[in-house]
Amino acid sequence: MPVAPAHPKAAARPAVARRAGALNGRVRVPGDKSISHRALMLGLLTVGETRIEGLLEGADVLATAAACGALGAKLQRTGTGTWSVQGAGIGSLLSPRAPLDFGNAGTGTRLMLGVVAGHPIEAVFDGDDSLRRRPMRRVLDPLARMGAEVMQQAEGGRLPLKLKGARDPIPIEFKSPVASAQVKSAVLLCGLAAPGETTLIEEAATRDHTERMLAHFGAELVVTPHGARGKQIVLKGRPELLPQRVRVPADPSSAAFPLVAALLIPGSDIILEGVLMNPLRTGLIVTLKEMGARIEELERREDGGETVANLRVCASALTGVEVPAARAPSMIDEYPVLAVAAAFAEGTTAMRGLAELRVKESDRLGAVAAGLKVNGVVHEISGDDLIVHGKRTVTGGGTVATHMDHRIAMSFLVMGLASDKPVGADDISFVATSFPGFSELMQKLGADIG
Ligand code: S3P
Repeated sequence: MPVAPAHPKAAARPAVARRAGALNGRVRVPGDKSISHRALMLGLLTVGETRIEGLLEGADVLATAAACGALGAKLQRTGTGTWSVQGAGIGSLLSPRAPLDFGNAGTGTRLMLGVVAGHPIEAVFDGDDSLRRRPMRRVLDPLARMGAEVMQQAEGGRLPLKLKGARDPIPIEFKSPVASAQVKSAVLLCGLAAPGETTLIEEAATRDHTERMLAHFGAELVVTPHGARGKQIVLKGRPELLPQRVRVPADPSSAAFPLVAALLIPGSDIILEGVLMNPLRTGLIVTLKEMGARIEELERREDGGETVANLRVCASALTGVEVPAARAPSMIDEYPVLAVAAAFAEGTTAMRGLAELRVKESDRLGAVAAGLKVNGVVHEISGDDLIVHGKRTVTGGGTVATHMDHRIAMSFLVMGLASDKPVGADDISFVATSFPGFSELMQKLGADIG
C-alpha cells in the first residue's frame, strides 16, 4: 500500500511550569476518554438515537467520532460535550471511502479494528508517527481467528493497515496474553456481530467499561471471576442493542494531574468534581493514600452505571512505597505522574511490572526516566521496574522530551509546579488529545504554566 507520510508535523509548542502559590478552587476535568470512545462506538452499533453528555472533546475521541461517521452513523454536536449519534446498527456498517485517521489514539484504533472485523467491509486505518509505531498484532491475531483479514500492513502489523472484516464472524474463546482492555474490547466488539457466544478470558482484570456499556445498551453477557485476579466474559452475539443516554464522568487519568499537583504544592486544597471511581481505575488513589496523601471522597454516588465522587485533595507529605505489579492494570496510565509524586516523597518508591509502559504513546518507561534525569531525580530502571529515590525537594531546571505523549508532558509540568527551578516540556500540542484546556484549568487553580 502506498504509504503517505503521517500527519504533517505541526510546529512544536513548548511550555514551562514554575512554582507559584498554593492551588485552590473547585474544577471538573474533561470526560473519561475510555468511556467516550466506547459511547460513540456503541452508538454506531445501535439503531436509533444515542445521546451522550460530557463527551471528551479531545482529538483522540473526535477521531473516533469521525470514524463512526465514515462507517455510517450520523453524528450531531448539540452543545459542549453533548452529542447525538444516529447509529447504523450491528451488521449495517459501510466501507469508508477514505482512510480512517485515528491521529494519536491507540484506543480508538484497536477498538474500531474490532468493530470493523465483524462486518463484511474494508477499511484503512492510519494515524500519526506515534500511533504508527504501536503494536497492533495483539488485536489483529484474535480478530484473524474470528475471520477478519489484514490485506495490507506496515512492517510488524503496524499502521497504516487495511482490514477486511468477516462476512460470517466466528465466535471464539480467547485467552488474552496481555492485560489489555483494548484487546479485550476489540474481541468483544467483533463478537457482537458473531452468532453464538464469544468468550474472553483475562488473567488480570482490566478496565471494564466495554462490559458495563454493553450491558447498558441491552447486550447479554455473563462475567465471572477467573483465577485469583482475572475474569471470564461470555457475550451472546447479535443482540438487539437499544439506544441509550450515556453520561460520561470526569476522567480519573486526567484528574491525576491537578490531584498530584495539589498534593505537592504546600498549602493547596482543591476539589475535583464528579471523578470516575471505578475500582479498575483507582490504583493511583490507592497508592497515593498509602504514601500518606490526604484525599477525601465526598458525595460518592452512582451516575450512568458508574460510581463517581468529588475528591478533596490537600497538600501532603508523602513517603515512598512499594507498588505491586498486580496493581498495574488499575493505574496503567498514571505511572508517569506517580513517578513525579515519588520524586517528592521521602524514601524509595518501587513501581513493579511496567513492561506495558514501553508500548504506550511513547516508550513511557524511557521517557519518564529521561525526564527524571534532566531534573536531578535519582532513579533506576531494573528490568520492568522503575525505582525512584525521593527527597521531598526536586531541583528541576530541565526540559523534558515529550515524544508526542500527552501524559509525559502533563506529568513533568506538574513537577515544575513544585520543583526549585522551572521545568519545561518541549511540546505540549499532544495534551489536547486527552485533556483540552489543561493549562487553563491548572491556571484557574493558581498554577503558573505558560
Ligand atoms: C484503554 C486501555 C489502556 C490504556 C488506554 C485506554 C482503554 O490500554 O492505557 O489509555 O480505553 O481500553 P491497554 O488496554 O493497552 O493497557
